[in-house]
Amino acid sequence: MTQQGSVTRIAVIPGDGIGVEVTREAVETLRTAAGRGGPGLAFEEFPYGADHFLRTGETLPQEGFDRLRTFDAILLGALGDPRVPDNRHAADILLGLRFRLDLYVNHRPVRLLDERLCPLKGRTTKDVDFVIFRENTEGLYAGVGGFFKKGTPDEMATQEDINTRKGVERIIRHAFAWARANGRRRVLMSDKSNALTYGHDLWQRVFKEVAAEYTDIEPSHMYVDALAMQLVKDPSPFQVIVACNMFGDILSDLGAQIQGGLGLAASANLHPGRIGLFEPVHGSAPKYAGQGVANPIGAILSAAMLMETVGRAEEARRIEAAVAAVVRDGKTTRDLGGNLSTSEVGAEIRRRIQAE
Ligand code: NAD
Ligand code: IPM
Ligand code: MN
Repeated sequence: MTQQGSVTRIAVIPGDGIGVEVTREAVETLRTAAGRGGPGLAFEEFPYGADHFLRTGETLPQEGFDRLRTFDAILLGALGDPRVPDNRHAADILLGLRFRLDLYVNHRPVRLLDERLCPLKGRTTKDVDFVIFRENTEGLYAGVGGFFKKGTPDEMATQEDINTRKGVERIIRHAFAWARANGRRRVLMSDKSNALTYGHDLWQRVFKEVAAEYTDIEPSHMYVDALAMQLVKDPSPFQVIVACNMFGDILSDLGAQIQGGLGLAASANLHPGRIGLFEPVHGSAPKYAGQGVANPIGAILSAAMLMETVGRAEEARRIEAAVAAVVRDGKTTRDLGGNLSTSEVGAEIRRRIQAE
């Protein structure tokens, strides 16, 4: 964690496709936000991604991992490239960092900045303002499973859904603690315990237990299929949603769209008190790579989450205010109906930070 007054050291992994373009804007924006007499930022870039993998065969080498973990935070663009069809490098780098750094909280806020961006009829900014806490270290992502008789007509494949008492409890606890610390009154746990009768039975029991400790917070539950429907029908009652890794992944893309699209959605992978990994929710969008059309706001808001997490809340607020202003003024990329390029949006945001 950064000490007050000291330099914040940030490792940067731009990654693949539009990840490179949006990360450039996020880094420049951090420099601008920090460049007003506060403590400095020191950046170091790491080359991990598809190009590096195809050139060297390396995904995330041990030496790189050992160095990455010495930073205060990691800022990541996106990983995924059609030249690596099994996405092996992304699994090793992105899931590798989440798992090996034990970043069990995937914090994904969903907030509508301007009602013109909402695809739902008649919704205002007050109706879309919730947070998804996605379990980030186990579930179907644990990589437990395998093939039997692969490639034969008798082939079998298993993918185990790993739910540990410790893993389920710590993400649920985090959701309640965050709700209390941030003035939210409701926490909803979403699972599929009507069908997944072992793993999600554990979620049910742990949720009830932890909820009983937070008498000031109203607990509730929805099956994930019903929640997906309800988020589209009326997102306004939701404040804090906690779910397993897989459901949190799916719900966060749904959430991204109701706040205006994947280009806007930010996230933080956290283990409170330790180094965090900050990245937009979107991927490498290969069809837009290199064209300068990707929306950098998701990456820039992820950088704001980074600043907040390392104790630089004032700079985080300045970045968020500047983003809200460009969205309000329509100074946006084409996914939001504007006609600016990735770097022009970044420049507009920085201009507003400087003008504040
Ligand atoms: P994607 O998020 O890359 O793109 C889906 C669509 O969303 C795009 O075609 C585009 O229309 C829109 N979009 C996404 N980001 C945008 C932005 N910044 N500005 C404007 N529009 C944007 O998802 P995908 O196409 O399913 O995946 C592409 C690759 O990225 C895959 O290899 C996938 O595995 C990977 N991926 C990586 C991450 C990550 O690194 N965190 C996340 C999701 C997907
Ligand atoms: C995300 C992505 C990743 C995930 C992929 C790229 C493995 O979709 O960060 O949401 O499923 O976690
Ligand atoms: Mn996803």
